[in-house]
Amino acid sequence: MSIVKVATIQFEPKLFHVQENCVRIAEYISSTQADIIVFPELATCGYFFINRKEVTLASLEFVSPEMNEFQRLATVFGRIVIVGFAEQFDHAYYNSAAVFHPDKQKSRVYRKTHLFYKERFVFNEGDTGFFVIHDEERDVKIGTMICYDWRFPESARSLALHGADLIVCPSNLVTHIWTSVMPTRAIENKVYLAVANRWGNEERTIHETDGTESTEVLSFNGQSSIYSYNGEILAQSLAVGDDVRIVEIEPQKTRDKSFNAYNHIFDDRRSKFYSI
Ligand code: ACM
Repeated sequence: MSIVKVATIQFEPKLFHVQENCVRIAEYISSTQADIIVFPELATCGYFFINRKEVTLASLEFVSPEMNEFQRLATVFGRIVIVGFAEQFDHAYYNSAAVFHPDKQKSRVYRKTHLFYKERFVFNEGDTGFFVIHDEERDVKIGTMICYDWRFPESARSLALHGADLIVCPSNLVTHIWTSVMPTRAIENKVYLAVANRWGNEERTIHETDGTESTEVLSFNGQSSIYSYNGEILAQSLAVGDDVRIVEIEPQKTRDKSFNAYNHIFDDRRSKFYSI
């Protein structure tokens, strides 16, 4: 039974300050003593973009000097690193999470499937679907979803059906109800779940076409959490402030989906009744 250390990094990315954010991320990758390190959604650039041009200025390609540096550190330290970033690819822009494996061949990008609120005005809908990366050395299978994907039980279920032991969820959460629901996602799929959420506010002034102006503030509520497969909170940050939480998990414990002699949460599914 392997024991794997999982870390959530809670910090306050600075909107548009890509280089500064990337330096902080690199420092956390180097200094955090864990096998798997999860950063928030859009950790490289901040969240509240109000037009497409802004995203073009703050986005990175998966193959770029900044991302290459994260890959290099993942390889040097032997860590799996998940970083939310605004991704430019082929004239499209995605709200993505890069999953850096020490073996570069295994590194991949997940593009957010379900866009939240005004993200639809600046990002393309994700087209990668849900996938799992198997780290053979530690025998852990990691699936990624991003923030608002939690609202759709299909996201976590797809990852669990693909074999995830651990779901990582880079987030910029602005409501509080997720704290009630995330443990359920863990229980109903019998998986560990690590939510790395940012904290802080972003205030933007919006210039309307009729000449009026309005101000909008988004408040991100921290509380980054790591849940066990039975929904128990293993670690939780406060709502405000930079914080690193590290817990040990036993991935193989998620693999037997039976919970008594007669019931198995996957084998008992009656999928023919689930379509409309
Ligand atoms: C969210 O998807 N950032 C709430």
